[in-house]
Amino acid sequence: MISSSKIKSVDFYRKIPRDLTEASLSGAGLSIVAALCMMFLFGMELNDYLTISTSTSVIVDKSTDGDFLRIDFNLSFPALSCEFASVDVSDVLGTNRLNITKTIRKFSIDPDLRPTGAEFHSGPVSNFIKHGDEVDDEAVEGSVLLTANNFDKISHQFPILVVNFYTPWCYWSNRLKPSWEKAAKIIRERYDPEMDGRILLGKVDCTVEGDLCKRNHIQGYPSIRIFRKGSDVRDDHGHHDHESYYGDRDTESLVKTMEDLIANIPLESQRLALEGKVENATEIAKRPAPLTGGCRIEGYVRVKKVPGNLIISAHSGTHSFDASQMNMSHVISHFSFGKKVSPKVISDVKRLVPYLGRSHDRLNGRTFINHREIGANVTIEHYLQVVKTEVISRNSYPLIEEYEYTAHSSLAQSFYLPVTKFHFELSPMQVLITENQKSFSHFITNVCAIIGGSRNIGCNSAQHYENGEKN
Ligand SMILES: *[C@@H]1O[C@H](CO)[C@@H](O)[C@H](O)[C@H]1NC(C)=O
Ligand SMILES: *[C@@H]1O[C@H](CO)[C@@H](O)[C@H](O)[C@H]1NC(C)=O
Ligand SMILES: *[C@@H]1O[C@H](CO)[C@@H](O)[C@H](O)[C@H]1NC(C)=O
Ligand SMILES: *[C@@H]1O[C@H](CO)[C@@H](O)[C@H](O)[C@H]1NC(C)=O
Ligand SMILES: *[C@@H]1O[C@H](CO)[C@@H](O)[C@H](O)[C@H]1NC(C)=O
Repeated sequence: MISSSKIKSVDFYRKIPRDLTEASLSGAGLSIVAALCMMFLFGMELNDYLTISTSTSVIVDKSTDGDFLRIDFNLSFPALSCEFASVDVSDVLGTNRLNITKTIRKFSIDPDLRPTGAEFHSGPVSNFIKHGDEVDDEAVEGSVLLTANNFDKISHQFPILVVNFYTPWCYWSNRLKPSWEKAAKIIRERYDPEMDGRILLGKVDCTVEGDLCKRNHIQGYPSIRIFRKGSDVRDDHGHHDHESYYGDRDTESLVKTMEDLIANIPLESQRLALEGKVENATEIAKRPAPLTGGCRIEGYVRVKKVPGNLIISAHSGTHSFDASQMNMSHVISHFSFGKKVSPKVISDVKRLVPYLGRSHDRLNGRTFINHREIGANVTIEHYLQVVKTEVISRNSYPLIEEYEYTAHSSLAQSFYLPVTKFHFELSPMQVLITENQKSFSHFITNVCAIIGGSRNIGCNSAQHYENGEKN
């Protein structure tokens, strides 16, 4: 049996009988200082425990093969018509998607970048347009050559004026020419401009009448525009649109279209009751042409996580473009990578990582204008380097996945048709920000050390002081 006195001998906390201790004034003062010190250190320790700290590391991007990157954009082109604007995506793995329409909306805009109407729909027109197989017979000259001088007069004279805006160098204009002239001749014979006077087919050479073509926002050749009583602006549900013909380009189809066009216009002498006749053929081939020359393109595309290009250009299977006249100037309202993150989440995470999101939409509000001084054929290129940033919370829960980028832009002359190109490249490294784990036991240990330590320092110096006093 171990006697109780033996157990007592291992006591850490041996008691000094109270009558042997004595309270002194200096001891009390030092105790107060020690208590204040203790409180201060405790406050600091608590504050440290409660503040969130993070650690940042750079690691190899963990994305897997099947991951896609979403690119959101909102771009305004004051001098590119929605009629021809096409969004294409290509990448180094050979993916090539031309004329993306599903995830993209286009709006015709005026020079102040305000939309002029509802969404622009290009309509169900294929790129395979039938052309006549007539040979270019110089003898047939059915359509009237229009110039800036007689254009207004003639267009006001006829209820319907159909004009072929062409250039002599353009392949598609030259293919259209024989059929157009032949159709014009047939229409002229059937509906004599003097006697009937309802319709006239004309043509404008855009290499000669540059201003007239520009006024009508002609960007591709040939453009067949329908003018009704001097204006090709049609009242359509409260907003105005030009009318453009996109149908087949053989003589037969052209003649049929022209006849359909005037079917609803009664001749003063012989009021034809043609109300029942439906303009089906022309409704398909005809669609609103943009009233102004600009276009806003907004939407998103999904791309593989490899270097690639997002290209916006004028594109058409049946029109030619004049490279020196193309103007790819644009204003970027938004251009970002990755899933949209709600502002609330951003502001939440900003407490952790204050710099996050600063380079998320770097091109926002930037304007790229092609001024005349640079010359013709100006391509605008943006070179973007993208870095992924991931924030992971204390319990390994991914809080946010963000893509930041740097942008370098250039306006350069190119030998090809001008385009707007966004070249993107994803960094193989990603930034990983993790919230540091805080241990409660560590906090408690620190608190104990502070309390014990301060008390001891207080005790020891009090004793020391008193000993010194006694000696
Ligand atoms: C695109 O930008 C324009 C101009 O800044 C703005 O009015 C429009 O609402 C934006 N579109 C979207 C979908 O955010
Ligand atoms: C793009 O595709 C749409 C639908 O597939 C088509 O209607 C449109 O004409 C095409 N646009 C261009 C510029 O090729
Ligand atoms: C016009 O199209 C409608 C449906 O698109 C069809 O029901 C109608 O029969 C067509 N009319 C003529 C004259 O082809
Ligand atoms: C291109 O369009 C912009 C905006 O409309 C204009 O300021 C600029 O002068 C144009 N450039 C050329 C070469 O026509
Ligand atoms: C502009 O582009 C066209 C068509 O690609 C080309 O024929 C022409 O030489 C280019 N002009 C200049 C000045 O580069």
